[in-house]
Amino acid sequence: MIFKEKVTLITGASQGIGEAIAEEFGRAGATVVLVDIQKGKLDQVASRLAGMGIRAIAYEADVTKSSQVTEVTEEAIKSQGRIDHLINNAGITRDSLLLRMKEEDWDSVVGVNLKGSFNFTRAVLKHMFSARYGRIVNISSVVGLMGNFGQSNYAASKAGLIGFSKSVAREVATRGITVNCVAPGYIGTSMTEKLSQDVQKAFLEIIPMRRFGLPVEVARVVKFLCSEDAAYITGQVINVNGGMYM
Ligand SMILES: NC(=O)c1ccc[n+]([C@@H]2O[C@H](COP(=O)([O-])OP(=O)(O)OC[C@H]3O[C@@H](n4cnc5c(N)ncnc54)[C@H](O)[C@@H]3O)[C@@H](O)[C@H]2O)c1
Repeated sequence: MIFKEKVTLITGASQGIGEAIAEEFGRAGATVVLVDIQKGKLDQVASRLAGMGIRAIAYEADVTKSSQVTEVTEEAIKSQGRIDHLINNAGITRDSLLLRMKEEDWDSVVGVNLKGSFNFTRAVLKHMFSARYGRIVNISSVVGLMGNFGQSNYAASKAGLIGFSKSVAREVATRGITVNCVAPGYIGTSMTEKLSQDVQKAFLEIIPMRRFGLPVEVARVVKFLCSEDAAYITGQVINVNGGMYM
């Protein structure tokens, strides 16, 4: 129970990697604060976790709306007294070649993936500052490091998240707060299920391990970065990609 009495806030927690992170932290003893725009799914995850004996609280909020982010953060602090870990995981894709990309596809991807993380980091950091303790993990992507055909908006948002994390890591390092990124490769979730069989096959060929990752394999690395074993790690990008990008 390495996270006994700790509180972890996870965005995009109603499915996929976010749900796996919530379960992994809950199993390690943390109270998990789940945030997502999909209220129905979020409630189902919260009751599934509660059935496992995990303390889970669900809040419906859009990470792009700073007023909702502030409200959720304040409510979570009021009810739990603290937020020790912030996991900025909510993310979307709106793929298309740059020449055909609509302005709204650029804005929505950068809005959720990058500004959403800015909104939550700014809101939660205030409390971590006074507690002189905190762990922030931002979920980037292999695509932010190597680029990808048809994903210039997504790649820009995920690369931006790395620069953001390194800058904030420098600003808060003396306050007992670490900020790191995890960059998953291709993980089996609804985000990758959308890819055609041909595209999935092509990706498998460039992954040395010849398989997609599991959400729990990402969640365990996030857990490590929030543990005391990672106390001296900040401003880093940890790849979880089966060797796809080295
Ligand atoms: N699956 C992969 O292969 C992969 C690879 C690299 C990085 N990632 C990143 O991991 C994270 C999780 O991805 P996933 O595969 O679990 O995707 P997913 O689509 O299964 O889950 C994303 C979650 O974010 C939520 N969300 C979307 N917009 C939101 C908003 N405005 N406010 C609050 N919540 C919002 C969704 O409702 C959903 O629950 C994302 O940031 C994604 O970019 C995924």
